[in-house]
Amino acid sequence: MNKKIAFFDSGIGGLTVLHQALQQFPEEKFLYYADTLHVPYGTKSADEVRGHIFDCVEAIVQEDVQAIVIACNTATSLAVKDLRAKYDIPIIGMEPAVKPAVEMNRNSGKRVLVFATALTLSQTKYNELVSRVDDHHSVDSIALPELVEWCEQLDFDPGKIADYFRFKLADLDLHGYGTVVLGCTHYPFYTSILRTVLPDHIQIIDGSTGTVNHLKQRLGLVAQHGDRTGKQVTFLSSSGRPEEQEKMYSALQYLEMNSK
Ligand code: SIN
Repeated sequence: MNKKIAFFDSGIGGLTVLHQALQQFPEEKFLYYADTLHVPYGTKSADEVRGHIFDCVEAIVQEDVQAIVIACNTATSLAVKDLRAKYDIPIIGMEPAVKPAVEMNRNSGKRVLVFATALTLSQTKYNELVSRVDDHHSVDSIALPELVEWCEQLDFDPGKIADYFRFKLADLDLHGYGTVVLGCTHYPFYTSILRTVLPDHIQIIDGSTGTVNHLKQRLGLVAQHGDRTGKQVTFLSSSGRPEEQEKMYSALQYLEMNSK
């Protein structure tokens, strides 16, 4: 019997990545760990968040898991390198899908718009990624902190969220953009609402496919068939409050219902 594969996030955002993994590997056992005592990460200082990440990952390692997916862009930018140096098990991170987005738009001359937390956007890891792949200076970015807050409240009100996107995008000429990159794992909860706001020609992508492929390669997983109801996931949180486990399970069900 294989050990569990752990997914870690500040809150429920990492469920968008776990949901993709469940679709491909429903026979695996998963552990989902949320730092509900300290969410959101994206509006705090780097030093504070780094401390929380190390505490949570230590708690996860005590559960004797076979690998940890840091299913949070902010946590990956701040700590993935140091976590890999500290622990022997595979540690897989997120990367905003800036590289594929730049490639997709190379011949069209359209720009790329990255949505991520302010903390992710301020980190060297993100800025080095953009400098490496964006040879035509075609990448712009916006932080959307309210989305993380609303997501944690399971607030998926389409009217309110669509108005928020319109407000945040009001100063941009959207016809000049070809791709929006969701660089925070909370944001894909709102992909279908964002779709109603963006012009049809703009593609929306995120980094979860790349992360799940990376996990597959590292663990040598092969595609599986089976029940993906979420019963194979153990939910834990830094606060230990049982109602948070219920909330995580409901959020996973929401993603499953909206993916059909
Ligand atoms: C947050 O906690 O602010 C969101 C973190 C992320 O997914 O980047």
